[in-house]
Amino acid sequence: MSVQAPPNLRLVSGALGDIDSDLLVVLHGQDGGMNGLAGEVDKVTDGAVKALIDGGSLTGRAFSTEWFYPAPIKTKRILLLGSGKADELNVRTLRRLAAAAVRHARAKKAQRVCLAFDWPSSIDNTAAIQALADGAVTGLADSDLYKDHEKKGTILEVSIWSENVTDTAAKAMERGSRIAQEINFGRWLADEPSNIMYPSRVADEVSHRADKLGIKWSVLGEDEIRVAGMGSLLSVTQGSARAPRVVVLEYRGGADDGETLAFVGKGVTFDTGGISIKPAADMHYMKYDMCGAAAAVSALFALASLGARVNALAVVGLVENMPSGTAMRPGDVVRAANGKSIEIINTDAEGRLVLADVLDLARKLGGSKLVDIATLTGAIKVALGTAAAGAMGSPQAWVDTVIAASERAGEKLWPMPLYPEYFDQIKSNIADMMNSGGRYGGALTAGIFLKQFVGDTPWVHLDVAGTAWTEKDSAWQMKGATGSMVRTLVELASAQK
Ligand code: BES
Ligand code: MN
Ligand code: ZN
Repeated sequence: MSVQAPPNLRLVSGALGDIDSDLLVVLHGQDGGMNGLAGEVDKVTDGAVKALIDGGSLTGRAFSTEWFYPAPIKTKRILLLGSGKADELNVRTLRRLAAAAVRHARAKKAQRVCLAFDWPSSIDNTAAIQALADGAVTGLADSDLYKDHEKKGTILEVSIWSENVTDTAAKAMERGSRIAQEINFGRWLADEPSNIMYPSRVADEVSHRADKLGIKWSVLGEDEIRVAGMGSLLSVTQGSARAPRVVVLEYRGGADDGETLAFVGKGVTFDTGGISIKPAADMHYMKYDMCGAAAAVSALFALASLGARVNALAVVGLVENMPSGTAMRPGDVVRAANGKSIEIINTDAEGRLVLADVLDLARKLGGSKLVDIATLTGAIKVALGTAAAGAMGSPQAWVDTVIAASERAGEKLWPMPLYPEYFDQIKSNIADMMNSGGRYGGALTAGIFLKQFVGDTPWVHLDVAGTAWTEKDSAWQMKGATGSMVRTLVELASAQK
């Protein structure tokens, strides 16, 4: 099993009636009318769109579909895809509409599909074309890895219609497609089950891809992790038959004396909870507890693929959290690589134990600005649901910079506080801190725990427990890993000086 190949993308322009494709997808909004491209389709089809409107079947509701075979034009079939209210269109919805379009096309066995989308002038053309390419590539990647895919059909080519085929438009398309390919790689890592994608296998897959992209990598095995003094990370892995790995990727595209952005990821390939074992219901979802690590490496791969002018590291801790005769116990005390002692209260609060040591490593390797990504707490899911990931860190200006990048990238990130008071909840009798602060403010006590490992380096923690995967199929993606925050990290890095 390996990551699916993306379709060929190209830009087209000109009259819609001349487009030669199996399927032409055009947006149609909820605010009535036949503006823009839907109007043009109406003209070249002798009023087919107007007839549908008059017949009352065309609602324009977001993701609604209306299919028809046009009379005299070249394309075989047309899909009018509802785009909802114009003021709700943004890069995220455009991306999702593109993804939905290619999924519908594939379901109808079209092989060559053309997306002729228009958008309000409030959306930047470059960002929109990037979003369409992204959606076309991420939309076709599925999580049903062990099913027969022959019945699904194959999209060979996606053309994106643009008023003018310019260099800028072509670059935007290429950018969206490259980022999307790396997102799909990370989603694939996470979608693979934990009997396949355990720590050393993740390290192998990541280092192979790094070789392909010409990125410097190194992998620490168990002995090296021990020599590095990462007692916190090791405490999580000690109950597992699978050895841990720490993977470091290094991309240097920026100035020698510039900043080095470090993406730090939680890579728990399976989280049973350990001795503080989780209930059986929903435990299978814990194969996704490595989505933070997947996002960190995907983002770094994307930067390399784009040739971004930045220096960046990805540092990820890969472990499996299992209960066994060798597992850590509640009450144990362990020492992290930065010298701090930790009393284990709950072995299910393992992600922070992993991040503690890899955050410290990222600093030691020269990371001057840190962003960690982790499926860290159920509490963030309670607070924000599945719509947004939580962001916390210091200084606040750095948090704000990351949130601003998420907005440009069409992802949702919401600021959470890290008041010093939260540390009171993790004070320990026996050690420098406890690994759990109880139920109240669970996402924030986790955040304040991580803060003990970043010193004064600017740092933001992204808790993606609610956004990293979806339990529901939607028009734009199958249930499974979402690649949450990769676009944000790439956008953040691309805006770095
Ligand atoms: N991996 C989980 C967090 C999680 C929960 C992610 C649900 C996605 C969906 C994490 O390791 C965990 O178990 N956190 C505990 C912490 C608690 C024991 C302090 C939690 O959130 O319950
Ligand atoms: Mn856990
Ligand atoms: Zn976990």
